[in-house]
Amino acid sequence: MREEKHKLRNGLVLPAVGFGTWLLSEGKEVEGAVIEAIDAGYRLIDTASFYGNEKGIGKAIGESGLDRKDVLVTTKLGAESKGYEETLRAFEASLKKLDTNYVDLYLIHSPVPWGARSDGMEYMEANIASWRAMEDLYRERKIRAIGVSNFEPSHLDALLKEADIVPMVNQIEIHPFHVPKETIAYCRKKDIVIQSYSPLAEGRIFSAAHLEEIASAKGRTVAQIVLRWHYQQGFLPLPKSKTPERIRENIDIFDFELDAREMARIAKTNL
Ligand SMILES: NC(=O)c1ccc[n+]([C@@H]2O[C@H](COP(=O)([O-])OP(=O)(O)OC[C@H]3O[C@@H](n4cnc5c(N)ncnc54)[C@H](OP(=O)(O)O)[C@@H]3O)[C@@H](O)[C@H]2O)c1
Repeated sequence: MREEKHKLRNGLVLPAVGFGTWLLSEGKEVEGAVIEAIDAGYRLIDTASFYGNEKGIGKAIGESGLDRKDVLVTTKLGAESKGYEETLRAFEASLKKLDTNYVDLYLIHSPVPWGARSDGMEYMEANIASWRAMEDLYRERKIRAIGVSNFEPSHLDALLKEADIVPMVNQIEIHPFHVPKETIAYCRKKDIVIQSYSPLAEGRIFSAAHLEEIASAKGRTVAQIVLRWHYQQGFLPLPKSKTPERIRENIDIFDFELDAREMARIAKTNL
């Protein structure tokens, strides 16, 4: 079966599955996992300044033997780093750590600083100033695609009123226990590619009996049927693992198909 990819509005093609790196520690742990992931076939590595592991990711890509252009890297502007100048500064710091002169995909990590009790609307002016800086970096070809993360329709509405460039990606939490329908519908309407983070619900899917049943009937693992569910809905999942066999298992989802009944049963909804 053909492995479909995601073509962004500007023509950049993203692979169908990316490798998540949150909680992989800087140094040997993240380097080993990323080398394993590249060897298994992943060509999109997802990090963030917040994860504290950009150095190891840059090193692993450098040592992979692949051309830089053949491995795409996403990193993110810290949730606390908002404003035009602050965004330029944070972006340069990420470039330096990643040991590269461009980033494939740069995202505003969150509309709201971590821990702030807010719907985020009072931060939109600062987010828009960050977006202006990202648009400039994009025009200077230091970033190949720009987007956001954790943005809901209200944040997207406010950003779209001011933006020259509509975000190309929104990275949001999606898994069988959490399907944010309104944000998904909004992104589809505006042609914003949806990346699903915590696609395995941080490991919580493995205790769901109905997923175990579907997986065993299919002769696949629970991780594989859930990642296939993401893929068949047009989401780009970013599974994380530090375990070599799981890293391989999570990208091996292109030779089977879930039917409409199985899709509906996985999340008990069909979008
Ligand atoms: N934009 C954002 O705000 C945001 C927020 C959260 C996450 N993310 C991104 O999304 C990525 C993935 O999300 P996540 O790390 O929260 O969680 P996840 O990918 O949903 O789940 C990771 C957990 O599942 C386990 N696991 C992975 N594959 C498995 C398999 N085949 N069988 C059994 N267990 C398996 C992992 O264990 P081992 O590692 O021990 O194998 C780990 O405990 C992150 O790494 C990050 O890149 C972004």
